[in-house]
Amino acid sequence: MCGIVGYIGDKRAQDILLSGLKRLEYRGYDSAGICILEDNDIKVIKSKGNLEVLIKKVDDQTFGSQGIGHTRWATHGKPSDENSHPHLSNSGQFCLVHNGIIENYNEIKTDLTEKGFDFKSETDSEVIVNLFEYLNDGDLLSTAKKVTEKLEGSYAIGVVNKENKDEFLVVRKDSPLVVGVGEGENFIASDIPAILEYTKKIYILDDDEMALISRGDVKIFDGNGKRIIKEIREINWSLESAEKQGYEHFMLKEINEQPEAIRKTLAGRIKNGLINLNLDMSEEYVKSINKIAVVACGTANYAGRVVGHLIEDKLRIPVLISYASEFRYNNPIIDQNTLTIVISQSGETADTLAGLREAKSRGSKIVAITNVVESSVAREADYVIYTQAGPEIAVASTKAYSTQIAALFMLLMELGYKRGSLDESTVKHWVTELIGIPEKMQIILENSELIKKYAEQIKDSTSLFFIGRGVDSVSCLEGALKLKEISYIHAEAYPAGELKHGTLALITDDVPVIAVATNKSLMDKIISNIEEVKTRGAVTYGVAFEDEIKLKDEVDYFMPIPRVDEALAPLLAVLPLQLLAYYTSVVKGNDVDKPRNLAKSVTVE
Ligand code: G6P
Repeated sequence: MCGIVGYIGDKRAQDILLSGLKRLEYRGYDSAGICILEDNDIKVIKSKGNLEVLIKKVDDQTFGSQGIGHTRWATHGKPSDENSHPHLSNSGQFCLVHNGIIENYNEIKTDLTEKGFDFKSETDSEVIVNLFEYLNDGDLLSTAKKVTEKLEGSYAIGVVNKENKDEFLVVRKDSPLVVGVGEGENFIASDIPAILEYTKKIYILDDDEMALISRGDVKIFDGNGKRIIKEIREINWSLESAEKQGYEHFMLKEINEQPEAIRKTLAGRIKNGLINLNLDMSEEYVKSINKIAVVACGTANYAGRVVGHLIEDKLRIPVLISYASEFRYNNPIIDQNTLTIVISQSGETADTLAGLREAKSRGSKIVAITNVVESSVAREADYVIYTQAGPEIAVASTKAYSTQIAALFMLLMELGYKRGSLDESTVKHWVTELIGIPEKMQIILENSELIKKYAEQIKDSTSLFFIGRGVDSVSCLEGALKLKEISYIHAEAYPAGELKHGTLALITDDVPVIAVATNKSLMDKIISNIEEVKTRGAVTYGVAFEDEIKLKDEVDYFMPIPRVDEALAPLLAVLPLQLLAYYTSVVKGNDVDKPRNLAKSVTVE
């Protein structure tokens, strides 16, 4: 969730660090800082608050051409100037930035305190920089090896040594880090977009690997300090795709990118009207699956719930859906006949990665659905299906969700066809429907004016309910989450039939109710539930197919979606809910892309 960027070359480092940090802000933004090596001294500038606060503090007279920077999302110690990174060691010889969590930092801190070190911050990271000083043997690489041997937890670390003007060091474990290669200059970053402006040539470091970065060279070493040769990857993301492209917010841009993102996710995976995910899963194995476990957090979890619901319904395989943060503590019933589906936009969410490892240790095979090539989740899974959503910057996830559903739905079809539980004509019909989704999404997006009006209407509510039945109740979970995240209005998703067992007590004329109703066979049921809330004074909104006249007449305000096979309705039903959350956040004047207290990528437990 924090961001790292580093530079060594012949340009003014602070310019490159600040522009890189700007692109990393979404990863964490309660504080930021940089350090620059200049005239045999390390200059540290850091502050609580967003990047603008830091930029104002930066001295325009600093011309050093080597440095590292960091944006922080607090884990140990509150957001403050002292707790911001980079951290200096006691003598000022080493300067360090760190992403991750050091689990044994208290023991190390006690030990170092006894040896005379003192600490200015409450962070676990300051412990590492002082370990560098304490264990310094004059060789940065071997010192780093000694330091990391003492650390338990996760880390991506960048460290500058005052005595070593020509290079700096990075090392990672369970936290992402890449090295960008330039001409006479090199870069590091926790996220590729931070340095994409400068280079498209990237080394992706693996766990325990270290690198010494100088102006003209990048030397990479394994955990034992042995030099290794890695392949450089050419990244084909354009910088523009990581920027707003004229939209007011990243979130709106990403909502609007969904038709294209779905097209890209389907591309190359449909052959002769059937699905081919190239998963290399034998038919024998597919037939041996007797349970599916879904492990994910937040929005990714809800994407899993949508398709988990359909897998049970259509493939008749029991599905265990877990929040990744709970999974490994619940003694899950998983074995070699369970297929575990791990879903993560970033591929780096700590709980999801831990869930993956838990399932693996119990003999389960893993399919990862992720948006980031070579992410940790992708590398540790047995099979990977990449969503092709492109970089998602807004904290509130939108295009990742719909592409995850599309990818999962393709998996459902492939498994169902191989197992013989879906026949060719059913798969071909769904494939045709799936191909038609982008165009139908476009229709919803082009008619968003109505939703802007509804956002005005609900903006002063303090509480809202989303109700639905069957898979629609899962779309409600995502709708409520979007609204909570960015509009800060309390919202609850409820299976509509369950309302009368307590929750109805909360319905008044101040509590709007949004019903999602895409299931024909349950239409009369949900209409009765809407009647129940209307009787208690609620103003009602409905999301349903445009030709659902009965529902349209029942609710006060209607949000139509084009007709599609019901199995695919969640892909369309979520769009009005995303737009409603977005416009509500905008009319409330909130920071849409960077909602309070949240981070895009949560790489700690
Ligand atoms: C954070 C984000 C959510 C996201 C969740 C899982 O909480 O704010 O938008 O759904 O992490 O992220 P992942 O990258 O694993 O999909």
